[in-house]
Amino acid sequence: MSRKNDRQQFLDDVIVGLDSSPPSIPCKYLYDARGSNLFESICRTKDYYVTRADLALHQRHLPRISDRIGPRAHVIEFGSGSGIKTRRLLESLHEPRAYTPIEISAAALESSVDELRRDLPHIEVQPVQADYTRDIPDQHFRLDPPPRRRVVYFPGSTIGNFDKDSAIAFLGRMRTIVGDTGAVLIGVDLLKPESTLLRAYDDHEGITAEFNLNLLVRMKRELDARIDVEAFKHEARFNREQSCVEMHLVAIRPTRIRVGEHDFDFDAGEGIHTENSYKYTVAGFRTLASQAGLESTEVWTDPDQQFSMHWLEAMKGER
Ligand code: AVI
Repeated sequence: MSRKNDRQQFLDDVIVGLDSSPPSIPCKYLYDARGSNLFESICRTKDYYVTRADLALHQRHLPRISDRIGPRAHVIEFGSGSGIKTRRLLESLHEPRAYTPIEISAAALESSVDELRRDLPHIEVQPVQADYTRDIPDQHFRLDPPPRRRVVYFPGSTIGNFDKDSAIAFLGRMRTIVGDTGAVLIGVDLLKPESTLLRAYDDHEGITAEFNLNLLVRMKRELDARIDVEAFKHEARFNREQSCVEMHLVAIRPTRIRVGEHDFDFDAGEGIHTENSYKYTVAGFRTLASQAGLESTEVWTDPDQQFSMHWLEAMKGER
């Protein structure tokens, strides 16, 4: 973290979060450099089925997906687009008009754009460095000549990390970007037995635990927080009412966190809520999307029905 205001924002968010009841810290802070590497390791664990299922879905349905996207499309990806799925999708497109990855990290964006321009020289790459969770002015996406349609591509299952209201607002922003003729291609993890979900978010190799605990390590390093990291353990819980896997950092003995001038005391068993990962049925996500003015007109799944991808079209006249 280089800019002073980023540190100040982190500090403010941590103090407000630890002061709330129950204490929580926004999940975006799990992703410092070490957290991002740990997340990539999670994706390779046996227990975290999500990445493999998403890839299997792409392999199985790519021809149909690229038919739906159609010729002369402008594909706008929320994320850096460095992954194999993006690569395969772009390779499968019919006469693509352009590809725009949106990514907040300049370094990640630059390296993925360099690679794409080298490996897929026939595709015009128009990167946008921005936080995709915020409004992005439409001028960043305009092309001359214009594409036949815009398609927002959001693979993975990051939509599950948004609470329901934020997910609707976020989908609504996608709807605005694609306009009346466009579509959104979005990955959504499916609801499945609790034991499978809990295993995926508390893997045998202990990598998810390390990923979660790394937040405390980061707070010590970047905020000079005083924390006994050993006094906390990782816990994954399934919230049945919300269809959501929650990650927590739970105190195993009474302990105190000091951040800036603030002290936060935890008894054994008390903790910090660090992430939500909502799981959807096909019908449940369809309903959510409709609240953002998007109609799910086709849904694909992997062969084991673990993961889904929705093709969402703008409901006419709603914006
Ligand atoms: C990034 N996101 C889709 C992951 C998920 O499955 O919710 C983050 C994650 N947290 C623990 N394991 C993976």
